[in-house]
Amino acid sequence: MIGGKIMKNTAVVIMAGGKGNRMNSDLPKVLHKIAGKPILNYVLETLSELTLNKKIVIVGHGADSVKSLIGNDMEYAVQSVQLGTGHAVLQSKELLTSFNGNVLILSGDVPFLTNHTLKKFLNYHRGHQHSCSIISAILEHPAGYGRIIRNDKGKITKIVEEADLCNGQKEINEVNAGIYCFEKNTLFQILEKITPNNKQKEYYLTDAIRILMEEGIEIGNIILEDYSEMLGINTRVDLASAAQRKNQQILHRLMMKGVTIIDPASTFIEETVQIKRDTTVYPFTIVQDHSKIGSHCEIGPNSHIINSRLGNEVKVWSSVIEECEIKDHVKIGPYSHLRPGTIVQQNVKIGNFVEVKKSIIGKGSKASHLTYLGDAQLGKNVNIGAGTITCNYDGRNKHATIIEDNVFIGSNNALVAPVKLGKGSYTGAGSTITEDIPEDSLAIARSRQKNILNWKKNKNTKSEQ
Ligand code: UD1
Ligand code: CA
Repeated sequence: MIGGKIMKNTAVVIMAGGKGNRMNSDLPKVLHKIAGKPILNYVLETLSELTLNKKIVIVGHGADSVKSLIGNDMEYAVQSVQLGTGHAVLQSKELLTSFNGNVLILSGDVPFLTNHTLKKFLNYHRGHQHSCSIISAILEHPAGYGRIIRNDKGKITKIVEEADLCNGQKEINEVNAGIYCFEKNTLFQILEKITPNNKQKEYYLTDAIRILMEEGIEIGNIILEDYSEMLGINTRVDLASAAQRKNQQILHRLMMKGVTIIDPASTFIEETVQIKRDTTVYPFTIVQDHSKIGSHCEIGPNSHIINSRLGNEVKVWSSVIEECEIKDHVKIGPYSHLRPGTIVQQNVKIGNFVEVKKSIIGKGSKASHLTYLGDAQLGKNVNIGAGTITCNYDGRNKHATIIEDNVFIGSNNALVAPVKLGKGSYTGAGSTITEDIPEDSLAIARSRQKNILNWKKNKNTKSEQ
């Protein structure tokens, strides 16, 4: 007799050991990212509000990298050869030896399932005292998924995988979502009975359904209201459409919170990004990682912001900002590149074609045109002339350039670091500054202009001779 007592306890087993052959990748499939986050993380997040007595991940292909992503929050069962989903779940048997209750089985490559659906599913399973329940969905294009076969009374009799479909079954549009709940003893008794007797020569977890039915055990089932929750990722094409779907969900959430997105089709914002009300994001803009953007900002067009914090009323136009902190009322671009470690204080203007690396730009300072500032510390109200370059690298080490409050740098200066420009000092255009400048002084460091009088006339006279 197969079966055991239905308990309230719940364990979860996530299958994440497969090779993901169809991805054609060195990276394990579940580590590929959607909107900046690995596929597997989405699956883990659906567990957040569930009461679980045990949490197990089946790892196999790329086990170490999968483990290092997840950390110590889960237990691991290793599937050293990937013989199919039935074989994968069997690997959790030992870890569940002293556990009694329900085992919720999730697929590591089904990232859109919601917490709400999982709760509903578990309540359904417990409420109906089933030994096994599955989630299915009705798809317009069912290709690629296991099809749910029902008898004339509407009861589920088996699941047939795409590769094993026979005539007439291809048109069946009810598919297996890859999410199951089993009473633990039933599960492991059935898993032992699965054979790789199919086109792919794999141990299919889905065969458990047919075997249970043959043992006279009825399969519980809920059908998804929103089929998109069960979309699985098997190929890069699936990955791209999942990324598109996730991006639209993120943009929708932001718009509902008061962010204007001019063109959702050309705007890409990752899950972990925060943007405040009344900020506008213009087309062809990407915001990634843990970036935080304040309110009343204008971001884009054509901008890329990575893991940076922007205050309020910041304007970024056709620029790249990585790992920077930008305070309120700052204008950046067009065509600027702010590199990691840069801090820009209030009311600054970083203008056309400017690169800034690991520098602090004090309040109200301006670098409006064609400049490189690297390892520089600028005080308040500094004016950087067009074409100024900090020569911060001597071929071996990086050196600092200190530019104190109210310094005015003429156009086309080379500031050879280490060097300090004292408060209120000025430099002449075209200077190469190699020595510190005292406060309130003017430094001119260029060769004097020499005018050779009547030079042309003399030249012409010579050539006539
Ligand atoms: C599976 C189901 C199919 C269902 C679909 C839903 C089976 C046999 N088929 O097909 O009915 O419609 O999911 O998305 O279960 N895995 C392992 N070890 C293995 C093989 C797979 O851990 O040896 C893991 C994979 O990493 C993946 C999950 O199990 O996270 C599903 O495997 P996959 O090969 O993608 O199954 P599908 O062919 O999509
Ligand atoms: Ca799959």
